[in-house]
Amino acid sequence: MKKFSKVAALATFLSAGVSAGALHAQTAEVLHWWTSGSEQAALAEIRVAFEAQGGKWVDTPIAGGGNARAAAVNRMLGGDPATVFQFSIGQQLRELADQGLLADVNAVAEEENWDEKLPPLIVQAAKYDGDYIAAPINIHGENWMFYNKEALEKAGIEVPKSWPEFIDAAKKLEDAGIVPIGLGGQPWQERILFNSVLLGVGGREFYAQLYSTLDDELLASDTMRKVFETFAALKPFVDEASPGRNWNEATNMVIRGDAAFQFMGDWAKGEIIAAGVEPGTTVGCAFAPAVDTAYIMTVDAFAFSAMDGDEAQAAQQKMAQVMLEPDVQIAFNKKKGSIPALLDVPGDSFDACAQKAMTTLQDKETHLVSTGLFGVPSAVSGAIDDSISNFWNSADMSPEQGQEEFRQAISYAK
Ligand code: BGC
Repeated sequence: MKKFSKVAALATFLSAGVSAGALHAQTAEVLHWWTSGSEQAALAEIRVAFEAQGGKWVDTPIAGGGNARAAAVNRMLGGDPATVFQFSIGQQLRELADQGLLADVNAVAEEENWDEKLPPLIVQAAKYDGDYIAAPINIHGENWMFYNKEALEKAGIEVPKSWPEFIDAAKKLEDAGIVPIGLGGQPWQERILFNSVLLGVGGREFYAQLYSTLDDELLASDTMRKVFETFAALKPFVDEASPGRNWNEATNMVIRGDAAFQFMGDWAKGEIIAAGVEPGTTVGCAFAPAVDTAYIMTVDAFAFSAMDGDEAQAAQQKMAQVMLEPDVQIAFNKKKGSIPALLDVPGDSFDACAQKAMTTLQDKETHLVSTGLFGVPSAVSGAIDDSISNFWNSADMSPEQGQEEFRQAISYAK
């Protein structure tokens, strides 16, 4: 990792704080994939706070997480880095640090005592070699199930608590002319559905074991067979226009009642809020059907490209500081659908679903990590998404074949 003196950085940061203003405007180009309405509204809370402290924000939105991350990395490799770029904490971010591409924000982290204020799991995943390589700003959960209450009523069904119950309910929704699952047919969204099935069928212990060990026997197990059978059984409940659909379009289907359910991270709740709907009223939230309670976490963060020059570094430090200010945490996360990363930020003004997330996370046994960017290396993450998507979209692949391809892809990538 590219290092700069902590003392020098802190001095630059502090003096910049004092002299912030037009003359010393610190410019930060911020590269991100937050292009939906709620994502933009949430990000604007950070931007306003940064600008209020004299910073100059240059916005570089790139639609699609994969595209944005590739652009951030390519620009770093090409010598034209964005000052700040969106990522998630975890193994893939540490891979970038390992290549020496990142600056640290230890000066702010020490000043603001992040070690004490952030949950230990987040501290650990946001660090590389003892250095903070990102500012973690929230906790999202990926195993949510959002549903349109009126659609469920029309079909005469309750919120399902198990996958067999879900399949029965889905048949009734079909009979009532309602699309059971609003799915954005993109590999990462298909993986989110798959991981909810995996968790729901296998249980949290199985999920944690499988993805932390990538063990061949677990991949070849009967439990995994059941997961693929259940996942395959969901295929008929998705409409024909699913392939390629964006996640927020699928959320809108549920808000309108065109689809009954969406299995998605709680950024979908951000869109529900942006549409003027109070979560828990006409659109409900529950965890995807499961045998036990768990929360598949992903933690949005902004990372900092290794760059020369005091101004860029001061802008990075200021950005990190602003992002974790309690007021910014509250304003940002209420619009984003997530909960604050900071432990000491009051959560009482958050919606009912966020309250459920906060209560759930108090029990450490519920803590699971996403395979998107958090819990597995990038090669494994890619193999997971690709093989799941391939299975989901192949009409003639049996669950046995899907499971075997998944096993092979992971074994090869790990
Ligand atoms: C991020 C969310 C974001 C979602 C859709 C996820 O990877 O963690 O913050 O809203 O992608 O863009």
